Amino acid sequence: MSETLESERWAVSGPWSGSRPIERELAERFASFVGAEWCVPVDHGSSALVAGLHALGVGPGDEVIVPGLTWVASASVVARAGAVPVLVDIDPNTLCIEPQAVEAAITPATVAITAVHLYSAMANMDALRVIADRHGLALVEDAAQAYGASWRGAGAGSLGDFGAFSAQQGKTLTSGEGGLLVTSDDGLRAKAEMLRGDGRRYATGPQVRGRSDLEERSVVQGWNMHLTEIQAGLLLDGLERLPLQNRQRALFAEQLDKDLVAEGDLESIVPYGANDQRAYYHYAIRLREGAFAGLGATAVCEALSAELGYWVHPPYRPLDGHPLYDPRRFPGAGDGPLAERLNPSAYHLPAAHREAARTVLFHHPMLLGGDAHREAIVEAFAKVRRLAGQLRAAKTK
Ligand SMILES: Cc1ncc(COP(=O)(O)O)c(C=O)c1O
Repeated sequence: MSETLESERWAVSGPWSGSRPIERELAERFASFVGAEWCVPVDHGSSALVAGLHALGVGPGDEVIVPGLTWVASASVVARAGAVPVLVDIDPNTLCIEPQAVEAAITPATVAITAVHLYSAMANMDALRVIADRHGLALVEDAAQAYGASWRGAGAGSLGDFGAFSAQQGKTLTSGEGGLLVTSDDGLRAKAEMLRGDGRRYATGPQVRGRSDLEERSVVQGWNMHLTEIQAGLLLDGLERLPLQNRQRALFAEQLDKDLVAEGDLESIVPYGANDQRAYYHYAIRLREGAFAGLGATAVCEALSAELGYWVHPPYRPLDGHPLYDPRRFPGAGDGPLAERLNPSAYHLPAAHREAARTVLFHHPMLLGGDAHREAIVEAFAKVRRLAGQLRAAKTK
């Protein structure tokens, strides 16, 4: 960090300083971490998604299928690219997009499917790849939450046409804000690299100290989505710690699953067998029907938060009724022939609603605690279980 701050170059768009930009080093190491050929660092995870969609040629008149349970950006970026986000329901075992629902939502306008690996499980990449290939669609991997997860040994982010990661503050690899696009398609990489740099890209010729080493020979209309050198340094540093932290979180979560389901009223996430390495952005556990006196996730989360002294919370609100999601608010969005498909409440997402109402989430820093912390979580659940009847009575008064 201090080397960067004292250097002549703080940004990709800054002058050549006589040494390789840190973000080039990051791109190489992150691509190898994921198991993809290329990485294009960008300023946000949303930028990785929208640059990738642009590079694929997604635009007005197109539809992209996205899960109805995810952070709003997974869907809003589709509308930002000028296309229509088509919401489909989730698989209750993993909370990720349901492949049969994807197939049922395909129309002649569909051009891509976005798989989101949500909280701690991967979407069914085998089934989605078969569907995408059968219908000639692109497969986008929103791996914002899945650093280090794998599917049959292949890294999350390397299985789609491109993968998008977020390095926003809450993620397991972060530079405050930031994003990383990965792909093994050289053409897509070249376009994404130009899109993120106002159309510029690194020159292949000799660099001149004090001058930019970007060349202005663009074939796309881009905008500035560059990551700074300072952020690239933070990510390189975090990448060193990530594998060990991922292992610690997985061990903690596996034991917590065993401890919590033992009482019979809680149910863990059931990942696909092919998801051979899980990466925990959030630890999720579900209340069985009628458990905890039927309190529901919101009330149980409130009680757990009070007991543990940090925020335990339910999942995102499904996108058919999320206050931050209505792509009709984009300027000009209502004008196209597909405008009716932009209405979020036109979609039916019963599994997303059912699971959101009974799921309790712990953010990943809590999974780096030791045995005593895990026992404190189990004890907090036990206390809420004991007091659930009273809490319920107080709520209905
Ligand atoms: C699943 C998912 N997709 C996309 C994003 C967007 O990333 P960013 O906030 O870095 O733009 C996030 C971040 O919260 C996310 O969780």
